Amino acid sequence: MAYDVAVLVGSLRKGSFSRAVADNLATLATDKLKLRIVEIGELPLYNPDLDEGSPPATWAKFRSEVVSADAVLFVTPEYNRSIPGLLKNAIDIGSRPYGKSAWKGKPTAIVSVSPGNLGAFGANHHLRQPLVFLDMPVMQQPEAYISKVGDLLDKDGKFVSEDTKSFLGGFLTAFATWIGRNK
Ligand code: FNR
Repeated sequence: MAYDVAVLVGSLRKGSFSRAVADNLATLATDKLKLRIVEIGELPLYNPDLDEGSPPATWAKFRSEVVSADAVLFVTPEYNRSIPGLLKNAIDIGSRPYGKSAWKGKPTAIVSVSPGNLGAFGANHHLRQPLVFLDMPVMQQPEAYISKVGDLLDKDGKFVSEDTKSFLGGFLTAFATWIGRNK
């Protein structure tokens, strides 16, 4: 049976390249992985005070959507050589209350996306730091730094080339193996 993978996208932009890449990924390696995007745009900024008593309903829903997943895939742009605050907020919310982290032990992988040349390397590697701390086995190889993403998508947001599909299909197949080994 295919593994259930929660996908977090680090952009809220209507025409987001990262979102388009995530949507395309959901059509690849479908026999091994079932990708579902977990929305993070409506999560109030993390404030520990709100975890006293009953936390916001959006936090509770988000946490349960992560807990129920076999694994987590991050698809993110780079903001100022790091990850967007949106994504860090979701990571912080999932990590609390203390001792009840939704992330613990979930195998994970990162696809970083940029219209520029560097494939959002800075975001990809900054993201690894909290994931390691949160005790998530982060897939090391293969890596996915998607550069010049604007050239890889057609006007409907679909991958133009078989090479891209083949590379990212291979990435997801490796991720399925990683999940099986670390789950
Ligand atoms: C950017 N962008 C950007 N790109 C990059 O490769 N490295 C960077 O450090 C940054 N920094 C940055 C900061 C901020 C605040 C914004 C808004 C943008 C450009 C970014 O890659 C581009 O806007 C992408 O299109 C964002 O991804 P989505 O929204 O298309 O998924």
